[in-house]
Amino acid sequence: MASLLFSATILLILFNLASALHCKIPTTLDGPFGPVTVPFDQSLRGNAIDVPDSDPRVRRRVKGFEPEQISLALSATYDSVWISWITGESQIGYNINPLDPKMVSSVVRYGKVRRPILPHEARGYSLVYNQLYPFEGLQNYTSGIIHHVRLTGLKPSTIYYYRCGDPSIPAISEIYSFKTMPVSGPRSYPERIGIVGDLGLTYNMTTTISHLIGNKPDLVLLIGDVTYANLYLTNGTSSDCYACSFPHTPIHETYQLRWDYWGRFMQNLVSKVPIMVVEGNHEIEEQVENQKFVAYSSRFAFPSEESESPSTLYYSFKAGGIHFIMIGAYIAYNETADQYKWLERDLANVDRSITPWLVATWHPPWYSSYKAHYREVECMRVAMEELLYSYGVDIIFNGHVHAYERSNRVYNYTLDPCGPVYITVGDGGNREKMAIEHADTPGNCPEPLTTPDPYMGGFCATNFTTGPAAGKFCWDRQPDYSAFRESSFGHGILEVKNDTWALWTWYRNQDSENKAGDQIYIVRQPDICPIRPKVTEGWFSAR
Ligand SMILES: [Fe+2]
Repeated sequence: MASLLFSATILLILFNLASALHCKIPTTLDGPFGPVTVPFDQSLRGNAIDVPDSDPRVRRRVKGFEPEQISLALSATYDSVWISWITGESQIGYNINPLDPKMVSSVVRYGKVRRPILPHEARGYSLVYNQLYPFEGLQNYTSGIIHHVRLTGLKPSTIYYYRCGDPSIPAISEIYSFKTMPVSGPRSYPERIGIVGDLGLTYNMTTTISHLIGNKPDLVLLIGDVTYANLYLTNGTSSDCYACSFPHTPIHETYQLRWDYWGRFMQNLVSKVPIMVVEGNHEIEEQVENQKFVAYSSRFAFPSEESESPSTLYYSFKAGGIHFIMIGAYIAYNETADQYKWLERDLANVDRSITPWLVATWHPPWYSSYKAHYREVECMRVAMEELLYSYGVDIIFNGHVHAYERSNRVYNYTLDPCGPVYITVGDGGNREKMAIEHADTPGNCPEPLTTPDPYMGGFCATNFTTGPAAGKFCWDRQPDYSAFRESSFGHGILEVKNDTWALWTWYRNQDSENKAGDQIYIVRQPDICPIRPKVTEGWFSAR
């Protein structure tokens, strides 16, 4: 009997040990990892259907000049937050009559308690933008009045209540609340940061957003491709392949009402949780006089001025001990460009004793092994990779490829313990469908000359010169830089635990909210990966 009990105890210990080993979350210290491809679940095949204009979640629910499409964005530091909203109706047609932005004031009343009154008031500015197509038969658009107000002097990690609108009409919102970011420091981090790209406004996307809300993010990063309004003609006709369906339009049209629908759908989340957006190719939206990114730049508030950027297309901000850099892929990025010079200055000013984590994002990935957009942005990688590497960027988030992929630490296509981890989360669920083909599958490798993105310019993608794929344009197996890839819609959550450890979890839409599709601790090693010291005042002033 005693020996039976002993054997059972040993078995239990072994079982617990096996379970513990099985459940252990890997860390980047265990890497580099052998490449993993999760086989595609064919049941996920099928069209992604856009939410129609008849859906109550996207219809205008306010009257007169009451605020709608209310959203929050962080400023560059914890003590300041942007609040944005829209008043008045947008118009689309052959004869539009833009509203006067001065006719409605931009006022936010706010405070740390909601009763008896919100004691503070901030005022901002308003604008209207037009999307004009001066071609026979195309309709023009003019927005409602877009308001942006910046609150300043806020306390860290504090809940604030606010109402926005114009009290003189009166047309003012109900009371919403948000929590400010923690003070920046090596032991101070937001708990959960939701990260996703390529959302659009489909029934897949609505699942992604519900799932994301269920994970209670303190902050959301949207890595480009917001509404996909440019999959529509101005008359509201749509297709999930614009170029295939509408090859003869005189300009690439858009249907700007999709932006209004998106703003209404997202209000439930982004009126309470700040959203930080970087532009994707679907935000280019060229129009009259070659204007681009007009809806994107008008509708969102960006901490560009606060981070000394001259553009809405690239900027930086802090969230606790994390310094985020949002980089524009569809604007000049070479060494002589304004963006590059700004990036050099911004990186030089990062104090890693205050913000140990340095995270960069932009839309199209440098390290992807999917066939879609394979090596499409090589010129950008060639121009910027060394700079980011030299400053020890820890994690890079991208979108654009409609699937999930996590890299090993890599630099210049070589596994490197001090290189960033690249994570592609273009899996928000837009209507262009999922990326399921890999460039390393026989017959899938694209012709190099076909790969550059026409918006990016240049041609830099040549055959590899070293490594297992030397002499070839594609690998003949999953590349070593690719640690994990899976074609599914979903989103990720970044939880920075301290100055060296951060937990990354990828959630698939088809799973329950607490089931991880991919999970890893990303571990910084400043001891073996020294970071270039902050430059001297003399160097900086000589820029
Ligand atoms: Fe994209």
